Amino acid sequence: MELDILIKNASELLTCKADSPKVREKLRDPGIIENGALGIKDDKIVFAGKTEGVNFSADKVIDATNKVVMPGFIDCHTHSVFAGSREKEFVKKLQGVPYLEILKQGGGILDTVEKTRKATKEELLEKLLKRLDRMISLGTTTVEIKSGYGLNLETEKKILEVADLADKRHPISIVKTYLGAHTLPKGKTKKNYVEEVISSLDKIKPYAEFCDIFCEKEPNFSIEETIKILTAAKNLGYKLKMHSEQLSQLRSAELAAELKATSADHLEYISDTGIHEMAKAGVIGVVLPGVTFHLMTKKYAPAREMINNGLALALATDYNPGTCPSENMQLMMSIACREMKMLPAEAINCSTINAAYAISREKEIGSLEVGKKADILILNARDHDYIPYHFGINHVEKVIKNGKIIE
Ligand code: NIG
Ligand code: FE
Repeated sequence: MELDILIKNASELLTCKADSPKVREKLRDPGIIENGALGIKDDKIVFAGKTEGVNFSADKVIDATNKVVMPGFIDCHTHSVFAGSREKEFVKKLQGVPYLEILKQGGGILDTVEKTRKATKEELLEKLLKRLDRMISLGTTTVEIKSGYGLNLETEKKILEVADLADKRHPISIVKTYLGAHTLPKGKTKKNYVEEVISSLDKIKPYAEFCDIFCEKEPNFSIEETIKILTAAKNLGYKLKMHSEQLSQLRSAELAAELKATSADHLEYISDTGIHEMAKAGVIGVVLPGVTFHLMTKKYAPAREMINNGLALALATDYNPGTCPSENMQLMMSIACREMKMLPAEAINCSTINAAYAISREKEIGSLEVGKKADILILNARDHDYIPYHFGINHVEKVIKNGKIIE
């Protein structure tokens, strides 16, 4: 067979292969092939194995001696379409003002909403494309993007349209989520806004695959309101996600299990029953350690307990201007290892194959297997432990997206 690209001599080729989301022991196994080789034809992987004995010819041969080759990162939780930035709020937080207090004072999400409402589609697209450029240079090849900085039909639609335009223009693949129920907009009562979100669901359906909600204490959405909105969304064919147990324990993880959500995200305050119910129902737990790091609350999701109890985890940035102003998945792995005691191999599986499960893309991406999309990273690291260990730098040497080398 004549290949387009042949990568050979990788010190470690990490397949990250799994038939179901990885839990416990499997999570520790990145599927290492030493002296690995990878064959690419068109946009697909056609060979993954040892370099010895490989005799394909290829248009381009890449020597990966002393390098790790692995699947592209999948950032399965971001709020990447927004205007403005919130460094002033960061300074307030440094001086001890809590996140919910800032939100109550009209800052936080509402500050970004005001700026995002005023921005044109073109302005938002330009900003998003720059963010996607940074992401791909850091190794992210697929990203989930939520709306949620519009809080009215017009702006929520605008945000999702911008994400769609970027999906067509940028090599990164984008998965879209409707988060109309991010928080209560100014000038609305809770009851009215819940009704408004429910009646917007069918109008937004052509623009989003998932529906998400910020289930949390006031001014966000209670368990009852979450049930109303997510049940209506499910009936219309949305897959479900939840911002769950982030700032307090409301037992929304148990609800995510009951509603058979694809994922429940954050989970800093998850209970033992929450862990068991989610594991039993097969809901992926998405942990976002960049948020705890940035909010300086020291309250990380109990990743070890979750892993030990068989809950499949994924790792993401939660990139947004308020709680995680960083698009860097390598940094998230470094924080996850140090603060949640994830092993490097676990952090890698959580950022690839398990993250693919968190956005229902496990059949196409997340592992290096024949037939999967050729979304591949070549890293300047001899082994996978080195990646989160040497933190604060970009290890990515080459990104291949859909079989094409990104320059
Ligand atoms: O995922 N938790 C709620 N929403 C975002 C924060 C958004 C913001 O502060 O702008 C989050 O942390
Ligand atoms: Fe979020």
